[in-house]
Amino acid sequence: MKKNNPSQKEKETVCVVGLGYVGLPLAVRTKEKGYNVIGLELDKKKIELINKKQSPIEEVYLYENLPKHPIRATDNAKEIKKADIVLICVPTPVDEYYNPDLTLVQKSCEMVAKNLKKGALVVLESTVNPGVSEEVVHPIFESFGHKIGSDVFIAHCPERINPGDSKWNVTNIPRVVGAFTQKGLKKSVEFYEDIIDGEIRPMKHIREAEACKVVENSFRDVNIAFVNELAKSFDALDIDIKDVIDGASTKPFAFMPHYPSCGIGGHCIPVDPYYLIERAKRAGFDHKFLRTSRAINNSMPAYTVELLQDKLNEVKMPLNGTNVGILGIAYKPNVDDDRESPYYDIVNALEKHGAKIHSFDPHIKEKSSVKTLATLLKKSDAIILVTNHKEFDEINGKLLKKNKIKVIIDGKNTLNKKDIEKNGVVYKGIGR
Ligand SMILES: NC(=O)c1ccc[n+]([C@@H]2O[C@H](COP(=O)([O-])OP(=O)(O)OC[C@H]3O[C@@H](n4cnc5c(N)ncnc54)[C@H](O)[C@@H]3O)[C@@H](O)[C@H]2O)c1
Repeated sequence: MKKNNPSQKEKETVCVVGLGYVGLPLAVRTKEKGYNVIGLELDKKKIELINKKQSPIEEVYLYENLPKHPIRATDNAKEIKKADIVLICVPTPVDEYYNPDLTLVQKSCEMVAKNLKKGALVVLESTVNPGVSEEVVHPIFESFGHKIGSDVFIAHCPERINPGDSKWNVTNIPRVVGAFTQKGLKKSVEFYEDIIDGEIRPMKHIREAEACKVVENSFRDVNIAFVNELAKSFDALDIDIKDVIDGASTKPFAFMPHYPSCGIGGHCIPVDPYYLIERAKRAGFDHKFLRTSRAINNSMPAYTVELLQDKLNEVKMPLNGTNVGILGIAYKPNVDDDRESPYYDIVNALEKHGAKIHSFDPHIKEKSSVKTLATLLKKSDAIILVTNHKEFDEINGKLLKKNKIKVIIDGKNTLNKKDIEKNGVVYKGIGR
Protein backbone atom coordinates (compact mmCIF):
# COMPACT_ATOMS: atom_id res chain seq x y z
CA MET A 1 0.00 0.00 0.00
CA LYS A 2 0.94 3.63 -0.49
CA LYS A 3 3.16 5.17 2.18
CA ASN A 4 2.20 8.40 3.96
CA ASN A 5 3.45 11.56 2.38
CA PRO A 6 6.18 12.86 4.79
CA SER A 7 4.92 16.45 4.90
CA GLN A 8 1.43 15.17 5.77
CA LYS A 9 2.92 12.76 8.31
CA GLU A 10 4.68 15.53 10.23
CA LYS A 11 1.31 17.06 10.94
CA GLU A 12 -0.15 13.86 12.38
CA THR A 13 -0.35 13.35 16.11
CA VAL A 14 -0.28 9.87 17.59
CA CYS A 15 -1.48 9.17 21.12
CA VAL A 16 -0.28 5.94 22.71
CA VAL A 17 -2.46 4.80 25.62
CA GLY A 18 -0.45 2.73 28.15
CA LEU A 19 3.35 3.16 28.26
CA GLY A 20 4.45 -0.33 29.28
CA TYR A 21 6.50 -3.06 27.59
CA VAL A 22 4.38 -2.62 24.44
CA GLY A 23 3.31 1.02 24.40
CA LEU A 24 6.59 2.74 25.28
CA PRO A 25 8.78 1.20 22.54
CA LEU A 26 5.93 1.82 20.08
CA ALA A 27 5.61 5.47 21.13
CA VAL A 28 9.38 6.02 20.81
CA ARG A 29 9.48 4.28 17.41
CA THR A 30 6.57 6.44 16.19
CA LYS A 31 8.41 9.55 17.37
CA GLU A 32 11.60 8.33 15.67
CA LYS A 33 9.58 8.16 12.45
CA GLY A 34 8.63 11.84 12.68
CA TYR A 35 5.15 11.87 14.22
CA ASN A 36 4.07 14.11 17.09
CA VAL A 37 3.66 11.67 19.95
CA ILE A 38 1.69 11.98 23.18
CA GLY A 39 1.95 9.14 25.70
CA LEU A 40 -1.03 8.66 27.97
CA GLU A 41 -0.26 6.77 31.20
CA LEU A 42 -1.87 6.40 34.62
CA ASP A 43 1.30 5.60 36.58
CA LYS A 44 2.75 8.90 37.79
CA LYS A 45 6.20 7.40 38.45
CA LYS A 46 6.43 6.17 34.84
CA ILE A 47 5.29 9.59 33.55
CA GLU A 48 7.97 11.35 35.58
CA LEU A 49 10.76 9.05 34.38
CA ILE A 50 9.68 9.11 30.71
CA ASN A 51 9.51 12.92 30.75
CA LYS A 52 13.12 12.86 32.05
CA LYS A 53 13.98 10.66 29.02
CA GLN A 54 14.60 7.70 31.33
CA SER A 55 13.13 4.30 30.57
CA PRO A 56 11.17 2.66 33.40
CA ILE A 57 11.68 -0.66 31.58
CA GLU A 58 14.88 -2.63 31.05
CA GLU A 59 15.01 -2.65 27.24
CA VAL A 60 18.00 -1.90 24.98
CA TYR A 61 15.88 -0.23 22.28
CA LEU A 62 14.52 2.21 24.88
CA TYR A 63 17.88 2.89 26.53
CA GLU A 64 19.25 3.85 23.12
CA ASN A 65 16.27 5.63 21.61
CA LEU A 66 14.19 7.30 24.34
CA PRO A 67 16.87 9.98 24.96
CA LYS A 68 17.19 10.55 21.17
CA HIS A 69 13.44 10.59 20.47
CA PRO A 70 11.80 11.76 23.68
CA ILE A 71 8.04 11.59 23.99
CA ARG A 72 5.75 13.64 26.16
CA ALA A 73 3.95 11.56 28.78
CA THR A 74 0.80 12.74 30.57
CA ASP A 75 -2.22 11.48 32.48
CA ASN A 76 -4.52 14.09 30.93
CA ALA A 77 -7.06 12.22 28.78
CA LYS A 78 -8.12 15.48 27.09
CA GLU A 79 -4.87 15.28 25.08
CA ILE A 80 -6.58 12.54 23.05
CA LYS A 81 -8.59 15.31 21.35
CA LYS A 82 -5.39 16.30 19.46
CA ALA A 83 -4.73 12.79 18.11
CA ASP A 84 -5.18 11.65 14.50
CA ILE A 85 -4.18 8.12 15.53
CA VAL A 86 -4.71 6.48 18.93
CA LEU A 87 -2.90 3.23 19.81
CA ILE A 88 -4.29 1.36 22.82
CA CYS A 89 -1.69 -0.79 24.61
CA VAL A 90 -3.18 -1.60 28.02
CA PRO A 91 -2.87 -4.93 29.89
CA THR A 92 -5.26 -7.84 29.28
CA PRO A 93 -4.75 -10.12 32.30
CA VAL A 94 -6.74 -13.04 33.69
CA ASP A 95 -8.22 -13.14 37.19
CA GLU A 96 -7.40 -15.72 39.89
CA TYR A 97 -9.74 -18.23 38.19
CA TYR A 98 -8.09 -17.64 34.79
CA ASN A 99 -11.06 -15.67 33.46
CA PRO A 100 -10.07 -12.95 30.95
CA ASP A 101 -10.33 -9.49 32.44
CA LEU A 102 -11.10 -6.85 29.81
CA THR A 103 -11.76 -4.04 32.30
CA LEU A 104 -8.70 -1.99 31.25
CA VAL A 105 -9.54 -2.34 27.55
CA GLN A 106 -13.12 -1.24 28.24
CA LYS A 107 -12.04 1.70 30.41
CA SER A 108 -9.44 2.93 27.94
CA CYS A 109 -11.90 2.60 25.01
CA GLU A 110 -14.43 4.71 26.93
CA MET A 111 -11.76 7.30 27.67
CA VAL A 112 -10.69 7.41 24.02
CA ALA A 113 -14.26 7.43 22.66
CA LYS A 114 -15.16 10.34 24.94
CA ASN A 115 -12.28 12.46 23.65
CA LEU A 116 -11.88 11.32 20.05
CA LYS A 117 -11.97 13.81 17.19
CA LYS A 118 -13.70 13.14 13.87
CA GLY A 119 -11.69 11.25 11.29
CA ALA A 120 -9.32 9.67 13.83
CA LEU A 121 -8.05 6.11 13.63
CA VAL A 122 -8.04 3.96 16.80
CA VAL A 123 -5.95 0.77 16.89
CA LEU A 124 -6.19 -1.76 19.70
CA GLU A 125 -2.76 -3.37 20.14
CA SER A 126 -3.54 -5.30 23.34
CA THR A 127 -3.87 -9.08 22.99
CA VAL A 128 -7.54 -10.12 22.91
CA ASN A 129 -9.58 -13.14 21.87
CA PRO A 130 -11.38 -13.19 18.54
CA GLY A 131 -14.59 -11.20 18.96
CA VAL A 132 -13.46 -8.47 21.38
CA SER A 133 -13.30 -5.73 18.72
CA GLU A 134 -16.83 -6.55 17.56
CA GLU A 135 -18.39 -7.39 20.94
CA VAL A 136 -16.64 -4.92 23.26
CA VAL A 137 -14.76 -2.18 21.38
CA HIS A 138 -17.25 -1.37 18.58
CA PRO A 139 -20.29 -0.99 20.90
CA ILE A 140 -18.36 1.37 23.22
CA PHE A 141 -17.45 3.73 20.37
CA GLU A 142 -21.02 3.58 19.01
CA SER A 143 -22.44 4.38 22.45
CA PHE A 144 -20.46 7.64 22.36
CA GLY A 145 -22.15 8.54 19.07
CA HIS A 146 -19.29 7.68 16.69
CA LYS A 147 -20.11 6.18 13.29
CA ILE A 148 -17.41 3.58 12.66
CA GLY A 149 -16.09 3.69 9.11
CA SER A 150 -17.23 7.25 8.40
CA ASP A 151 -16.63 9.41 11.54
CA VAL A 152 -13.86 7.32 13.05
CA PHE A 153 -11.94 4.18 12.13
CA ILE A 154 -11.17 1.18 14.32
CA ALA A 155 -8.53 -1.47 13.73
CA HIS A 156 -6.71 -4.20 15.62
CA CYS A 157 -2.96 -4.80 15.24
CA PRO A 158 -1.80 -7.26 17.90
CA GLU A 159 1.65 -6.49 19.27
CA ARG A 160 4.25 -9.25 19.01
CA ILE A 161 7.17 -7.62 20.82
CA ASN A 162 9.54 -9.95 22.67
CA PRO A 163 11.27 -7.91 25.41
CA GLY A 164 14.99 -8.61 25.67
CA ASP A 165 15.23 -9.90 22.08
CA SER A 166 18.31 -8.40 20.42
CA LYS A 167 17.24 -9.27 16.85
CA TRP A 168 13.47 -8.72 16.75
CA ASN A 169 12.07 -5.52 18.22
CA VAL A 170 9.46 -2.84 17.58
CA THR A 171 11.30 -1.68 14.45
CA ASN A 172 11.22 -4.92 12.47
CA ILE A 173 8.66 -7.46 13.72
CA PRO A 174 6.10 -8.05 10.92
CA ARG A 175 2.48 -7.34 11.87
CA VAL A 176 -1.05 -8.38 10.97
CA VAL A 177 -3.84 -5.81 10.87
CA GLY A 178 -7.63 -6.13 10.76
CA ALA A 179 -10.25 -3.39 10.64
CA PHE A 180 -14.01 -2.89 10.39
CA THR A 181 -13.92 -1.15 7.00
CA GLN A 182 -11.62 -1.07 3.97
CA LYS A 183 -10.85 2.61 4.60
CA GLY A 184 -9.89 1.83 8.20
CA LEU A 185 -7.74 -1.06 7.04
CA LYS A 186 -5.96 1.11 4.45
CA LYS A 187 -5.27 3.86 7.00
CA SER A 188 -3.89 1.45 9.58
CA VAL A 189 -1.76 -0.53 7.10
CA GLU A 190 -0.28 2.75 5.79
CA PHE A 191 0.59 3.83 9.34
CA TYR A 192 2.28 0.54 10.28
CA GLU A 193 4.12 0.33 6.95
CA ASP A 194 5.49 3.75 7.72
CA ILE A 195 6.82 2.91 11.19
CA ILE A 196 7.85 -0.75 10.80
CA ASP A 197 10.51 -2.29 8.54
CA GLY A 198 8.69 -5.58 8.05
CA GLU A 199 5.66 -7.04 6.34
CA ILE A 200 2.31 -5.58 7.35
CA ARG A 201 -0.30 -8.17 6.45
CA PRO A 202 -3.89 -6.93 6.06
CA MET A 203 -6.38 -9.55 7.26
CA LYS A 204 -9.81 -10.04 5.71
CA HIS A 205 -11.64 -9.75 9.03
CA ILE A 206 -10.76 -8.03 12.32
CA ARG A 207 -11.54 -11.35 14.08
CA GLU A 208 -8.77 -13.03 12.06
CA ALA A 209 -6.21 -10.46 13.27
CA GLU A 210 -7.28 -11.10 16.87
CA ALA A 211 -7.06 -14.86 16.33
CA CYS A 212 -3.50 -14.68 14.89
CA LYS A 213 -2.09 -13.48 18.21
CA VAL A 214 -3.80 -16.04 20.44
CA VAL A 215 -2.82 -18.78 17.98
CA GLU A 216 0.84 -17.70 18.02
CA ASN A 217 1.01 -17.73 21.81
CA SER A 218 -1.06 -20.90 22.20
CA PHE A 219 1.33 -22.56 19.72
CA ARG A 220 4.19 -21.80 22.10
CA ASP A 221 2.20 -22.90 25.11
CA VAL A 222 1.26 -26.33 23.69
CA ASN A 223 4.76 -27.02 22.39
CA ILE A 224 6.29 -26.13 25.73
CA ALA A 225 3.66 -28.29 27.48
CA PHE A 226 4.71 -31.19 25.22
CA VAL A 227 8.37 -30.95 26.27
CA ASN A 228 7.44 -30.36 29.91
CA GLU A 229 5.45 -33.59 29.81
CA LEU A 230 8.39 -35.32 28.12
CA ALA A 231 10.68 -33.98 30.86
CA LYS A 232 8.57 -35.67 33.54
CA SER A 233 8.43 -38.90 31.52
CA PHE A 234 12.19 -38.86 30.85
CA ASP A 235 12.89 -38.22 34.54
CA ALA A 236 11.10 -41.54 35.19
CA LEU A 237 12.91 -43.23 32.28
CA ASP A 238 16.33 -41.73 33.12
CA ILE A 239 16.82 -40.12 29.72
CA ASP A 240 18.40 -36.66 29.31
CA ILE A 241 15.80 -34.53 27.49
CA LYS A 242 18.32 -31.85 26.58
CA ASP A 243 20.43 -34.37 24.68
CA VAL A 244 17.31 -35.79 23.02
CA ILE A 245 16.08 -32.38 21.86
CA ASP A 246 19.56 -31.57 20.55
CA GLY A 247 19.55 -34.92 18.72
CA ALA A 248 16.05 -34.46 17.30
CA SER A 249 17.03 -30.97 16.15
CA THR A 250 19.43 -32.49 13.62
CA LYS A 251 16.32 -33.28 11.54
CA PRO A 252 16.30 -30.39 9.08
CA PHE A 253 12.53 -30.31 8.56
CA ALA A 254 9.29 -30.73 10.54
CA PHE A 255 10.90 -30.43 13.98
CA MET A 256 11.17 -27.26 16.01
CA PRO A 257 13.02 -27.39 19.35
CA HIS A 258 11.22 -26.23 22.49
CA TYR A 259 12.67 -26.66 25.96
CA PRO A 260 11.25 -27.70 29.34
CA SER A 261 11.67 -25.54 32.43
CA CYS A 262 10.50 -24.86 35.96
CA GLY A 263 7.57 -22.88 34.56
CA ILE A 264 6.29 -20.33 32.07
CA GLY A 265 5.85 -16.66 32.93
CA GLY A 266 5.25 -13.22 31.46
CA HIS A 267 2.10 -11.39 30.49
CA CYS A 268 1.53 -13.44 27.30
CA ILE A 269 2.02 -17.24 27.10
CA PRO A 270 0.46 -18.22 30.46
CA VAL A 271 -2.42 -15.78 29.90
CA ASP A 272 -3.44 -15.54 26.24
CA PRO A 273 -4.64 -19.15 25.71
CA TYR A 274 -7.34 -18.55 28.37
CA TYR A 275 -8.80 -15.77 26.20
CA LEU A 276 -9.44 -18.29 23.43
CA ILE A 277 -10.46 -21.10 25.79
CA GLU A 278 -13.10 -18.95 27.51
CA ARG A 279 -14.52 -17.34 24.35
CA ALA A 280 -14.76 -20.71 22.58
CA LYS A 281 -16.46 -22.14 25.67
CA ARG A 282 -19.18 -19.48 25.34
CA ALA A 283 -19.63 -20.59 21.71
CA GLY A 284 -20.03 -24.22 22.86
CA PHE A 285 -16.53 -25.49 22.08
CA ASP A 286 -14.22 -27.09 24.64
CA HIS A 287 -10.50 -26.51 23.95
CA LYS A 288 -9.34 -29.73 25.68
CA PHE A 289 -5.86 -29.60 24.20
CA LEU A 290 -5.24 -25.99 25.26
CA ARG A 291 -6.63 -26.64 28.75
CA THR A 292 -4.38 -29.69 29.18
CA SER A 293 -1.35 -27.73 28.02
CA ARG A 294 -2.09 -24.94 30.48
CA ALA A 295 -2.48 -27.48 33.31
CA ILE A 296 0.85 -29.17 32.46
CA ASN A 297 2.71 -25.87 32.29
CA ASN A 298 1.09 -24.66 35.51
CA SER A 299 2.28 -27.84 37.26
CA MET A 300 5.98 -27.21 36.62
CA PRO A 301 6.82 -25.00 39.65
CA ALA A 302 5.41 -27.61 42.07
CA TYR A 303 7.20 -30.36 40.13
CA THR A 304 10.48 -28.41 40.50
CA VAL A 305 10.02 -28.29 44.27
CA GLU A 306 9.27 -32.06 44.28
CA LEU A 307 12.59 -32.61 42.48
CA LEU A 308 14.35 -30.59 45.15
CA GLN A 309 12.67 -32.58 47.90
CA ASP A 310 13.73 -35.90 46.27
CA LYS A 311 17.32 -34.79 45.85
CA LEU A 312 17.53 -33.45 49.42
CA ASN A 313 16.23 -36.84 50.62
CA GLU A 314 19.17 -38.47 48.80
CA VAL A 315 21.58 -36.44 50.97
CA LYS A 316 19.40 -37.06 54.04
CA MET A 317 18.18 -33.49 54.42
CA PRO A 318 14.53 -32.57 54.92
CA LEU A 319 13.13 -29.67 52.89
CA ASN A 320 11.55 -28.42 56.10
CA GLY A 321 14.01 -26.01 57.70
CA THR A 322 16.55 -26.13 54.86
CA ASN A 323 17.91 -22.83 53.50
CA VAL A 324 16.91 -22.71 49.83
CA GLY A 325 18.38 -19.96 47.65
CA ILE A 326 16.42 -18.97 44.56
CA LEU A 327 18.37 -17.53 41.65
CA GLY A 328 16.12 -15.23 39.63
CA ILE A 329 12.70 -13.69 40.08
CA ALA A 330 12.12 -12.55 36.47
CA TYR A 331 10.27 -14.92 34.14
CA LYS A 332 13.01 -14.87 31.52
CA PRO A 333 16.71 -13.97 31.26
CA ASN A 334 18.06 -10.44 31.32
CA VAL A 335 14.75 -8.62 31.83
CA ASP A 336 13.17 -7.04 34.91
CA ASP A 337 9.66 -8.44 34.30
CA ASP A 338 8.32 -10.77 37.02
CA ARG A 339 4.68 -10.93 35.87
CA GLU A 340 3.35 -14.50 36.19
CA SER A 341 6.89 -15.67 36.95
CA PRO A 342 7.16 -19.31 38.14
CA TYR A 343 9.27 -17.86 40.98
CA TYR A 344 6.08 -17.05 42.90
CA ASP A 345 4.57 -20.56 42.69
CA ILE A 346 7.95 -22.06 43.61
CA VAL A 347 8.12 -19.81 46.68
CA ASN A 348 4.55 -20.83 47.66
CA ALA A 349 5.37 -24.53 47.35
CA LEU A 350 8.61 -24.12 49.32
CA GLU A 351 6.82 -22.21 52.07
CA LYS A 352 4.24 -24.99 52.38
CA HIS A 353 7.11 -27.40 53.00
CA GLY A 354 8.65 -25.14 55.66
CA ALA A 355 11.81 -24.27 53.71
CA LYS A 356 13.74 -21.10 54.59
CA ILE A 357 13.80 -19.03 51.43
CA HIS A 358 16.40 -16.54 50.17
CA SER A 359 16.24 -14.91 46.76
CA PHE A 360 18.43 -12.87 44.46
CA ASP A 361 17.70 -11.30 41.09
CA PRO A 362 20.25 -8.76 39.82
CA HIS A 363 17.54 -7.26 37.56
CA ILE A 364 14.90 -7.02 40.33
CA LYS A 365 16.97 -6.07 43.36
CA GLU A 366 14.04 -4.39 45.16
CA LYS A 367 12.26 -7.76 45.48
CA SER A 368 15.39 -9.80 46.32
CA SER A 369 15.96 -10.79 49.94
CA VAL A 370 19.75 -10.48 49.59
CA LYS A 371 21.86 -7.98 47.69
CA THR A 372 24.50 -10.18 46.04
CA LEU A 373 24.96 -13.62 44.53
CA ALA A 374 27.80 -14.25 47.01
CA THR A 375 25.47 -13.61 50.00
CA LEU A 376 22.79 -15.90 48.53
CA LEU A 377 25.29 -18.74 48.07
CA LYS A 378 26.66 -18.24 51.58
CA LYS A 379 23.17 -18.45 53.15
CA SER A 380 21.92 -21.47 51.16
CA ASP A 381 22.19 -25.27 51.52
CA ALA A 382 20.32 -25.86 48.26
CA ILE A 383 19.66 -23.77 45.16
CA ILE A 384 16.89 -23.51 42.59
CA LEU A 385 17.84 -21.65 39.42
CA VAL A 386 14.63 -20.02 38.15
CA THR A 387 16.07 -17.50 35.68
CA ASN A 388 19.14 -17.98 33.48
CA HIS A 389 20.28 -14.33 33.71
CA LYS A 390 23.75 -13.71 32.26
CA GLU A 391 24.93 -12.80 35.79
CA PHE A 392 24.45 -16.47 36.76
CA ASP A 393 26.78 -17.77 34.04
CA GLU A 394 29.54 -17.83 36.63
CA ILE A 395 27.76 -20.58 38.63
CA ASN A 396 29.92 -23.70 38.44
CA GLY A 397 30.78 -26.79 40.45
CA LYS A 398 33.76 -25.21 42.21
CA LEU A 399 31.76 -22.18 43.37
CA LEU A 400 28.89 -24.36 44.63
CA LYS A 401 31.29 -26.69 46.46
CA LYS A 402 33.13 -23.74 48.03
CA ASN A 403 29.78 -22.50 49.41
CA LYS A 404 28.85 -25.96 50.71
CA ILE A 405 25.77 -26.21 48.46
CA LYS A 406 24.44 -29.77 48.67
CA VAL A 407 21.84 -29.76 45.88
CA ILE A 408 21.09 -27.57 42.88
CA ILE A 409 17.92 -27.74 40.79
CA ASP A 410 18.57 -26.23 37.37
CA GLY A 411 15.13 -24.90 36.40
CA LYS A 412 16.37 -23.80 32.98
CA ASN A 413 18.76 -26.68 32.13
CA THR A 414 21.54 -24.19 31.37
CA LEU A 415 24.19 -25.16 33.93
CA ASN A 416 27.08 -27.58 33.37
CA LYS A 417 25.76 -30.82 34.88
CA LYS A 418 29.01 -32.77 34.53
CA ASP A 419 31.14 -30.08 36.14
CA ILE A 420 28.72 -29.65 39.06
CA GLU A 421 28.50 -33.41 39.73
CA LYS A 422 32.28 -33.71 39.48
CA ASN A 423 32.50 -31.34 42.43
CA GLY A 424 30.29 -33.55 44.57
CA VAL A 425 27.15 -31.37 44.36
CA VAL A 426 23.86 -33.13 43.55
CA TYR A 427 22.53 -31.72 40.25
CA LYS A 428 19.05 -32.12 38.83
CA GLY A 429 17.65 -30.42 35.77
CA ILE A 430 14.08 -30.54 34.43
CA GLY A 431 14.12 -33.85 32.56
CA ARG A 432 17.87 -34.31 32.86
N1 LIG B 1 4.80 -7.67 27.51
C1 LIG B 1 4.90 -8.30 26.37
O1 LIG B 1 5.92 -8.92 26.08
C2 LIG B 1 3.78 -8.25 25.35
C3 LIG B 1 4.05 -8.68 24.05
C4 LIG B 1 3.04 -8.63 23.11
C5 LIG B 1 1.76 -8.22 23.49
N2 LIG B 1 1.51 -7.85 24.75
C6 LIG B 1 0.15 -7.39 25.08
O2 LIG B 1 0.15 -5.97 25.10
C7 LIG B 1 -0.73 -5.47 26.11
C8 LIG B 1 0.02 -4.56 27.06
O3 LIG B 1 1.00 -5.32 27.74
P1 LIG B 1 2.27 -4.67 28.44
O4 LIG B 1 3.21 -5.77 28.73
O5 LIG B 1 2.77 -3.48 27.68
O6 LIG B 1 1.59 -4.15 29.80
P2 LIG B 1 2.27 -3.17 30.87
O7 LIG B 1 1.61 -3.43 32.16
O8 LIG B 1 3.76 -3.23 30.78
O9 LIG B 1 1.85 -1.71 30.36
C9 LIG B 1 0.53 -1.27 30.28
C10 LIG B 1 0.46 0.17 30.78
O10 LIG B 1 -0.87 0.65 30.57
C11 LIG B 1 -1.16 1.56 31.61
N3 LIG B 1 -2.60 1.76 31.63
C12 LIG B 1 -3.59 0.92 32.02
N4 LIG B 1 -4.79 1.49 31.82
C13 LIG B 1 -4.57 2.72 31.29
C14 LIG B 1 -5.41 3.78 30.87
N5 LIG B 1 -6.74 3.70 30.95
N6 LIG B 1 -4.84 4.91 30.40
C15 LIG B 1 -3.50 5.00 30.31
N7 LIG B 1 -2.64 4.02 30.68
C16 LIG B 1 -3.18 2.89 31.16
C17 LIG B 1 -0.57 0.88 32.84
O11 LIG B 1 -0.35 1.80 33.86
C18 LIG B 1 0.74 0.30 32.27
O12 LIG B 1 1.83 1.17 32.44
C19 LIG B 1 -1.35 -6.71 26.75
O13 LIG B 1 -2.56 -7.00 26.10
C20 LIG B 1 -0.34 -7.80 26.45
O14 LIG B 1 -0.92 -9.08 26.42
C21 LIG B 1 2.50 -7.83 25.70
